[in-house]
Amino acid sequence: MILLKGQLLGVALLGLLVHTSGKKVSCFMDHSGKSVYDFNATNIYGNETIEFSKYQGSVLAIINLQEPGGTAEEILNGIKWVRPGGGYVPQFQMFEKIDVNGNKEHPLYTYMKSVCGPTSDTFEDLLFYSPLRVSDVRWNFEIFVVDKTGRLLYRYSPDHDLSMIREDIRKLLFKVEVNDAQVNKGNIALHEAQEELSNEINPY
Ligand SMILES: *[C@@H]1O[C@H](CO)[C@@H](O)[C@H](O)[C@H]1NC(C)=O
Ligand SMILES: *[C@@H]1O[C@H](CO)[C@@H](O)[C@H](O)[C@H]1NC(C)=O
Repeated sequence: MILLKGQLLGVALLGLLVHTSGKKVSCFMDHSGKSVYDFNATNIYGNETIEFSKYQGSVLAIINLQEPGGTAEEILNGIKWVRPGGGYVPQFQMFEKIDVNGNKEHPLYTYMKSVCGPTSDTFEDLLFYSPLRVSDVRWNFEIFVVDKTGRLLYRYSPDHDLSMIREDIRKLLFKVEVNDAQVNKGNIALHEAQEELSNEINPY
């Protein structure tokens, strides 16, 4: 699993994908009070627990990447020299190898899949995990996008057009947070305007 924070959208890795239209799923509004900030995961070296709450205020793209290597060294070497290769060094947080589906799937994935439905209605043949679940991640590079408040918004299939994903993320990055004070001010202004209007219409 790799995670891109804010503007660090890893175009280098994602750029490898072949782009057809793909599928974008809008996630449900989760009323359980949970968010991705309730989860944590171990970094790729296995020596640090990263709590997702540290990403408050950032837009996140959470991506699964299939890696034959097991250790951090093997995985990082694979990325550097094989895919995408060319000496590429990821500038985003990478996590240790986990299961995204099946009995041993990581709790973050259980949660994300419960809020964002599947990007496909078919399965590949010969999958090496069980049980198969409808909401399972179908292939490498599914992307889950989380807004600055920890809310899951979108889930994209691996073949989704990257420029559209980038555009969605850009919008979230520049979205102005409206806080309670502003909302209250807005409500008062609206209330006053309504009163004025009703006085005009009905002066008695
Ligand atoms: C990480 O999450 C697990 C449950 O998924 C929990 O048991 C554990 O206490 C958490 N660790 C930290 C350091 O928050
Ligand atoms: C974890 O291990 C890596 C690689 O050995 C090292 O560079 C890093 O400083 C370590 N981090 C912590 C928090 O110990």
